Amino acid sequence: MIGKSIIELGSVDSTNTYAGNILQKSDPEDGTVIWALKQSGGRGLNENKWESEPGKNLTFSIILCPGFLPPDRQFQLNKAISLGVFDFLNSLIPNLTIKWPNDIYVGVRKIAGILIENRIIGTRIKNSIAGIGININQTSFPHDIPNPVSLSQVLRYEIDLKEALINLCKYMDSRYSQLRSGDHIIIDHDYHHCLLGRDEWRIFTKRGKNFEGKIEGVDDYGHLLITDRKGTRSAFNLKEVEFHFDP
Ligand code: BTN
Repeated sequence: MIGKSIIELGSVDSTNTYAGNILQKSDPEDGTVIWALKQSGGRGLNENKWESEPGKNLTFSIILCPGFLPPDRQFQLNKAISLGVFDFLNSLIPNLTIKWPNDIYVGVRKIAGILIENRIIGTRIKNSIAGIGININQTSFPHDIPNPVSLSQVLRYEIDLKEALINLCKYMDSRYSQLRSGDHIIIDHDYHHCLLGRDEWRIFTKRGKNFEGKIEGVDDYGHLLITDRKGTRSAFNLKEVEFHFDP
Protein backbone atom coordinates (compact mmCIF):
# COMPACT_ATOMS: atom_id res chain seq x y z
CA MET A 1 0.00 0.00 0.00
CA ILE A 2 1.36 3.42 -0.95
CA GLY A 3 2.32 5.40 2.15
CA LYS A 4 2.00 2.56 4.70
CA SER A 5 5.69 3.03 5.27
CA ILE A 6 7.09 6.58 5.05
CA ILE A 7 10.82 7.19 5.53
CA GLU A 8 11.30 10.83 6.57
CA LEU A 9 14.61 12.52 5.84
CA GLY A 10 15.78 15.99 6.81
CA SER A 11 18.15 16.43 3.91
CA VAL A 12 19.27 14.25 1.01
CA ASP A 13 20.76 14.74 -2.47
CA SER A 14 17.74 13.31 -4.29
CA THR A 15 14.97 11.07 -2.94
CA ASN A 16 15.04 9.15 -6.26
CA THR A 17 18.77 8.42 -5.80
CA TYR A 18 18.19 7.49 -2.15
CA ALA A 19 15.37 5.12 -3.19
CA GLY A 20 17.69 3.56 -5.80
CA ASN A 21 20.30 2.93 -3.11
CA ILE A 22 17.74 1.28 -0.81
CA LEU A 23 16.71 -1.01 -3.67
CA GLN A 24 20.34 -2.07 -4.18
CA LYS A 25 20.67 -3.14 -0.56
CA SER A 26 17.26 -4.39 0.54
CA ASP A 27 13.81 -5.42 -0.55
CA PRO A 28 11.48 -2.57 0.51
CA GLU A 29 7.72 -3.05 0.50
CA ASP A 30 5.77 -2.00 -2.60
CA GLY A 31 4.56 1.55 -1.93
CA THR A 32 7.34 2.66 0.42
CA VAL A 33 7.66 6.45 0.41
CA ILE A 34 10.94 8.37 0.84
CA TRP A 35 10.17 11.94 1.83
CA ALA A 36 12.77 14.69 2.29
CA LEU A 37 12.36 18.25 3.54
CA LYS A 38 15.41 19.30 1.57
CA GLN A 39 17.09 18.00 -1.57
CA SER A 40 20.55 19.29 -2.48
CA GLY A 41 20.51 17.68 -5.94
CA GLY A 42 16.87 17.27 -6.91
CA ARG A 43 16.58 15.82 -10.41
CA GLY A 44 14.01 16.57 -13.10
CA LEU A 45 13.21 15.29 -16.59
CA ASN A 46 15.85 15.60 -19.33
CA GLU A 47 18.67 16.00 -16.83
CA ASN A 48 17.16 19.23 -15.53
CA LYS A 49 17.49 20.21 -11.88
CA TRP A 50 14.44 20.26 -9.60
CA GLU A 51 14.76 23.25 -7.31
CA SER A 52 12.55 23.51 -4.25
CA GLU A 53 12.82 25.75 -1.19
CA PRO A 54 13.68 23.54 1.83
CA GLY A 55 10.73 22.76 4.13
CA LYS A 56 8.17 24.42 1.86
CA ASN A 57 7.16 21.77 -0.66
CA LEU A 58 6.65 18.05 -1.09
CA THR A 59 9.65 16.25 -2.57
CA PHE A 60 9.38 12.49 -2.30
CA SER A 61 9.75 9.20 -4.14
CA ILE A 62 7.57 6.11 -4.12
CA ILE A 63 9.16 2.70 -4.52
CA LEU A 64 6.87 0.50 -6.61
CA CYS A 65 7.04 -3.09 -7.78
CA PRO A 66 4.67 -3.17 -10.77
CA GLY A 67 5.74 -6.69 -11.85
CA PHE A 68 2.17 -7.16 -13.14
CA LEU A 69 2.79 -4.61 -15.92
CA PRO A 70 4.66 -5.71 -19.07
CA PRO A 71 7.57 -3.33 -19.85
CA ASP A 72 5.96 -2.26 -23.13
CA ARG A 73 2.97 -0.94 -21.12
CA GLN A 74 5.10 1.12 -18.72
CA PHE A 75 3.42 4.35 -19.83
CA GLN A 76 0.32 3.09 -17.97
CA LEU A 77 2.28 3.55 -14.74
CA ASN A 78 3.10 7.10 -15.80
CA LYS A 79 -0.62 7.72 -16.37
CA ALA A 80 -1.63 6.25 -12.99
CA ILE A 81 1.00 8.27 -11.10
CA SER A 82 0.09 11.49 -12.93
CA LEU A 83 -3.60 10.90 -12.20
CA GLY A 84 -2.89 10.25 -8.50
CA VAL A 85 -1.18 13.64 -8.19
CA PHE A 86 -3.90 15.23 -10.32
CA ASP A 87 -6.72 13.75 -8.16
CA PHE A 88 -5.12 15.00 -4.94
CA LEU A 89 -4.69 18.54 -6.28
CA ASN A 90 -8.11 18.46 -7.92
CA SER A 91 -9.66 17.79 -4.50
CA LEU A 92 -8.35 21.23 -3.47
CA ILE A 93 -8.16 23.51 -6.53
CA PRO A 94 -9.73 23.89 -10.02
CA ASN A 95 -8.25 24.44 -13.53
CA LEU A 96 -5.85 21.51 -13.46
CA THR A 97 -4.50 19.65 -16.46
CA ILE A 98 -1.77 17.12 -17.17
CA LYS A 99 0.80 18.43 -19.61
CA TRP A 100 2.10 15.43 -21.50
CA PRO A 101 3.76 13.31 -20.33
CA ASN A 102 3.42 14.05 -16.62
CA ASP A 103 3.58 17.69 -15.53
CA ILE A 104 0.62 19.01 -13.58
CA TYR A 105 -0.51 22.52 -14.49
CA VAL A 106 -2.90 25.06 -13.00
CA GLY A 107 -3.92 27.09 -16.04
CA VAL A 108 -0.58 27.91 -17.70
CA ARG A 109 1.52 27.43 -14.56
CA LYS A 110 3.33 24.31 -13.41
CA ILE A 111 2.52 23.07 -9.91
CA ALA A 112 4.06 19.57 -9.96
CA GLY A 113 6.61 17.46 -11.82
CA ILE A 114 7.19 13.72 -11.90
CA LEU A 115 10.32 11.71 -12.67
CA ILE A 116 9.74 7.96 -13.03
CA GLU A 117 12.73 5.63 -13.26
CA ASN A 118 11.97 2.00 -14.14
CA ARG A 119 14.34 -0.92 -13.69
CA ILE A 120 13.55 -3.58 -16.26
CA ILE A 121 15.05 -7.04 -15.95
CA GLY A 122 14.30 -9.45 -18.79
CA THR A 123 10.62 -9.20 -19.58
CA ARG A 124 9.60 -7.66 -16.25
CA ILE A 125 9.60 -4.29 -14.56
CA LYS A 126 11.56 -5.24 -11.45
CA ASN A 127 10.88 -1.95 -9.72
CA SER A 128 10.04 1.69 -10.33
CA ILE A 129 10.91 4.85 -8.51
CA ALA A 130 8.25 7.51 -8.93
CA GLY A 131 9.78 10.83 -7.86
CA ILE A 132 7.27 13.60 -7.27
CA GLY A 133 7.79 17.30 -6.60
CA ILE A 134 4.76 19.44 -5.74
CA ASN A 135 4.95 23.14 -4.99
CA ILE A 136 2.99 23.50 -1.77
CA ASN A 137 3.89 26.54 0.38
CA GLN A 138 6.61 28.29 -1.67
CA THR A 139 5.61 31.83 -2.61
CA SER A 140 8.60 33.10 -4.56
CA PHE A 141 10.57 31.19 -7.15
CA PRO A 142 13.91 31.69 -8.94
CA HIS A 143 13.47 33.67 -12.17
CA ASP A 144 14.77 30.87 -14.39
CA ILE A 145 11.90 28.53 -13.46
CA PRO A 146 9.23 29.00 -16.15
CA ASN A 147 5.73 29.78 -14.83
CA PRO A 148 5.75 28.04 -11.44
CA VAL A 149 2.87 28.15 -8.98
CA SER A 150 2.21 26.61 -5.57
CA LEU A 151 -0.88 25.28 -3.88
CA SER A 152 -0.78 28.01 -1.23
CA GLN A 153 -0.57 30.72 -3.90
CA VAL A 154 -3.88 29.46 -5.27
CA LEU A 155 -5.55 28.65 -1.95
CA ARG A 156 -4.13 31.66 -0.07
CA TYR A 157 -3.37 29.63 3.03
CA GLU A 158 -0.52 27.38 4.18
CA ILE A 159 -0.79 23.63 3.99
CA ASP A 160 0.56 21.11 6.52
CA LEU A 161 3.09 19.08 4.53
CA LYS A 162 2.74 15.79 6.40
CA GLU A 163 -1.05 15.91 6.27
CA ALA A 164 -0.90 16.67 2.54
CA LEU A 165 1.50 13.78 1.94
CA ILE A 166 -0.70 11.28 3.80
CA ASN A 167 -3.77 12.48 1.91
CA LEU A 168 -1.92 12.37 -1.40
CA CYS A 169 -0.77 8.79 -0.75
CA LYS A 170 -4.44 7.73 -0.55
CA TYR A 171 -5.12 9.16 -4.00
CA MET A 172 -1.93 7.58 -5.36
CA ASP A 173 -2.84 4.21 -3.86
CA SER A 174 -6.27 4.29 -5.39
CA ARG A 175 -4.84 4.86 -8.92
CA TYR A 176 -2.12 2.24 -8.35
CA SER A 177 -4.83 -0.25 -7.31
CA GLN A 178 -6.71 0.53 -10.54
CA LEU A 179 -3.52 -0.19 -12.46
CA ARG A 180 -2.92 -3.44 -10.58
CA SER A 181 -6.51 -4.55 -11.26
CA GLY A 182 -6.03 -3.87 -14.98
CA ASP A 183 -8.61 -1.05 -15.11
CA HIS A 184 -6.86 0.41 -18.14
CA ILE A 185 -10.05 1.75 -19.72
CA ILE A 186 -10.66 4.07 -16.74
CA ILE A 187 -7.01 5.13 -16.54
CA ASP A 188 -6.84 5.80 -20.30
CA HIS A 189 -10.11 7.72 -20.25
CA ASP A 190 -9.16 9.90 -17.28
CA TYR A 191 -5.64 10.65 -18.56
CA HIS A 192 -7.03 11.56 -21.99
CA HIS A 193 -9.69 13.75 -20.39
CA CYS A 194 -7.09 15.67 -18.33
CA LEU A 195 -4.56 16.27 -21.15
CA LEU A 196 -3.57 19.91 -21.57
CA GLY A 197 -4.37 21.24 -25.04
CA ARG A 198 -6.36 18.18 -26.18
CA ASP A 199 -8.46 18.89 -29.27
CA GLU A 200 -7.24 22.50 -29.46
CA TRP A 201 -5.28 23.99 -32.34
CA ARG A 202 -1.83 24.96 -31.00
CA ILE A 203 1.63 25.79 -32.25
CA PHE A 204 4.26 23.07 -31.81
CA THR A 205 7.97 23.13 -32.63
CA LYS A 206 9.71 20.19 -34.23
CA ARG A 207 13.44 20.44 -35.02
CA GLY A 208 13.28 24.25 -34.82
CA LYS A 209 10.26 24.50 -37.14
CA ASN A 210 6.80 25.57 -36.01
CA PHE A 211 3.66 23.81 -37.12
CA GLU A 212 0.02 24.00 -36.19
CA GLY A 213 -1.51 20.89 -34.73
CA LYS A 214 -4.05 19.40 -32.43
CA ILE A 215 -3.28 16.90 -29.64
CA GLU A 216 -5.45 13.81 -30.16
CA GLY A 217 -4.10 11.79 -27.23
CA VAL A 218 -1.27 9.34 -26.63
CA ASP A 219 -0.56 5.90 -28.08
CA ASP A 220 0.09 2.73 -26.03
CA TYR A 221 3.80 3.58 -25.80
CA GLY A 222 3.18 7.09 -24.49
CA HIS A 223 3.95 8.95 -27.70
CA LEU A 224 1.99 12.17 -28.14
CA LEU A 225 -0.39 12.01 -31.10
CA ILE A 226 -0.71 15.28 -32.99
CA THR A 227 -2.74 15.88 -36.16
CA ASP A 228 -1.58 18.75 -38.36
CA ARG A 229 -3.69 21.06 -40.58
CA LYS A 230 -3.33 18.62 -43.50
CA GLY A 231 -4.93 15.90 -41.40
CA THR A 232 -1.71 13.90 -40.96
CA ARG A 233 -1.40 12.29 -37.57
CA SER A 234 2.12 11.76 -36.16
CA ALA A 235 3.43 10.20 -32.96
CA PHE A 236 6.14 12.09 -31.09
CA ASN A 237 8.47 11.18 -28.26
CA LEU A 238 9.54 13.55 -25.52
CA LYS A 239 12.53 15.18 -27.18
CA GLU A 240 10.89 15.53 -30.60
CA VAL A 241 8.26 18.14 -30.00
CA GLU A 242 7.75 21.29 -28.00
CA PHE A 243 4.39 22.71 -27.03
CA HIS A 244 3.50 26.41 -26.93
CA PHE A 245 0.93 27.78 -24.55
CA ASP A 246 -0.24 30.68 -26.68
CA PRO A 247 -2.82 29.50 -29.20
C1 BTN B 1 10.26 17.41 -13.75
O1 BTN B 1 9.24 18.07 -13.85
O2 BTN B 1 11.26 17.65 -14.44
C2 BTN B 1 10.30 16.25 -12.78
C3 BTN B 1 10.63 16.71 -11.41
C4 BTN B 1 10.68 15.61 -10.36
C5 BTN B 1 11.17 16.13 -9.04
C6 BTN B 1 11.05 15.13 -7.93
S1 BTN B 1 11.32 15.85 -6.35
C7 BTN B 1 11.39 14.28 -5.61
C8 BTN B 1 12.12 13.38 -6.57
N1 BTN B 1 13.56 13.42 -6.34
C9 BTN B 1 14.21 13.96 -7.37
O3 BTN B 1 15.43 14.14 -7.43
N2 BTN B 1 13.34 14.29 -8.34
C10 BTN B 1 11.98 13.94 -7.99
